[in-house]
Amino acid sequence: MENPSKTATFSLQNLLFLLLPCLLFFFSQYLVVPVTADFNFNPYYPTENYAINCGSSTGGESFNGRYWIGDGSGQLRPIEQQNKSSVIKAISEQFIQGPYSTARLSYSQFTYSIPLSPGPKFIRLHFYPTSYPDFDDPSKKAIFSVQAGTFTLLRNFSALFHARGEVTVVKEFCVNVDQGPRFNLTFTPTPEITDSYAFINGIEVVSMPTNLYYKPESDEGVPFLGQAQGRLYTLGNNAALEKMYRINVGGSEILPEDDAEMFRSWLTDDAYLTIAKPSALPVNVIINLTFSSDTASYSAPREVYVTARTMGTNKTQNENYQLTWEFPVDSGFNYFVRLHFCELQIEITKEGDRVF
Ligand SMILES: *[C@@H]1O[C@H](CO)[C@@H](O)[C@H](O)[C@H]1NC(C)=O
Ligand SMILES: *[C@@H]1O[C@H](CO)[C@@H](O)[C@H](O)[C@H]1NC(C)=O
Ligand SMILES: *[C@@H]1O[C@H](CO)[C@@H](O)[C@H](O)[C@H]1NC(C)=O
Ligand SMILES: *[C@@H]1O[C@H](CO)[C@@H](O)[C@H](O)[C@H]1NC(C)=O
Ligand SMILES: *[C@@H]1O[C@H](CO)[C@@H](O)[C@H](O)[C@H]1NC(C)=O
Repeated sequence: MENPSKTATFSLQNLLFLLLPCLLFFFSQYLVVPVTADFNFNPYYPTENYAINCGSSTGGESFNGRYWIGDGSGQLRPIEQQNKSSVIKAISEQFIQGPYSTARLSYSQFTYSIPLSPGPKFIRLHFYPTSYPDFDDPSKKAIFSVQAGTFTLLRNFSALFHARGEVTVVKEFCVNVDQGPRFNLTFTPTPEITDSYAFINGIEVVSMPTNLYYKPESDEGVPFLGQAQGRLYTLGNNAALEKMYRINVGGSEILPEDDAEMFRSWLTDDAYLTIAKPSALPVNVIINLTFSSDTASYSAPREVYVTARTMGTNKTQNENYQLTWEFPVDSGFNYFVRLHFCELQIEITKEGDRVF
């Protein structure tokens, strides 16, 4: 993440959120609602929290446990180039819901100017790439860039291509807003393509704690793998990040509505696990989590820490394999990897009981 392009020429640094809670004992079938008391528990509730239903003229509707506000009127209505206004389209397929059921599309640039205070934010862009009436073949023409303040989040972007067969696409970023009171999110059709157009179905902007990913300049930094030993990398406010993967290892999927703090989603690790012979899936929902002084409790929802994947119990086998996950990424970027650990197994009582 060298000098992450304040000049906004390339698309973003990528961020690999990786999650690896540790071990535990096997939990029985009974799921009693546990009474727990977590220590050093400091929840974060976003001070700014926008869920915008683009292309919707109605006031708002509930989806994913939140109220999505239409952008048809009021201060969230985008600013457009004169006489080249965007149009809004509704989608009638029944299985398409919430922000995906309407879109804003335009052959020219449009800008959401969102009231925001300075500080780090999550930006999530929701796309339903399909053929919209009066707009040409999305695979050839729905190609555009998205600029957030001074950062180019997406360039020459095709949501249809990025969907890779999925119905909808969510692109998630972290950016730091330098100054308020408004922050511009600009959609621009690719000028090199005749009749190209931009579209968007939903936008989320959610504030985050200042120290969740970004660190003050005085921070010592994180080790930079593959570089000279001892080289540290500091993740400063001038870097934008793109989420690549956020995984709840050994546990179930966590939906945005289940993360009341920052509406993050966490996938299961099944699709990425490549070597796991044998592995176990311990769970300990009654544990009292104790967060260390340098790990805030909002680093991940509690559910992430109470499940894990571990090696099995056969020492001989464990010495002869490496529990492995594989994550496809693009070359040419730097990746930030975070591993979350929670030592849950009651047999592990002191330092040194488990070393790997
Ligand atoms: C968790 O903490 C509460 C309150 O201190 C205590 O009553 C309970 O026994 C603890 N649970 C475990 C599993 O240690
Ligand atoms: C823009 O629209 C206005 C009113 O709708 C019209 O008077 C004006 O001529 C238009 N300008 C151009 C350049 O088309
Ligand atoms: C934009 O993407 C298209 C394919 O989607 C590619 O052919 C073209 O070279 C790209 N242009 C730039 C400027 O990257
Ligand atoms: C946001 O975009 C609008 C319209 O293009 C522009 O007038 C305004 O100056 C921009 N604000 C910032 C902070 O860039
Ligand atoms: C552990 O695995 C080895 C190699 O697969 C096997 O020979 C041995 O019997 C296993 N031990 C136990 C206790 O299952």
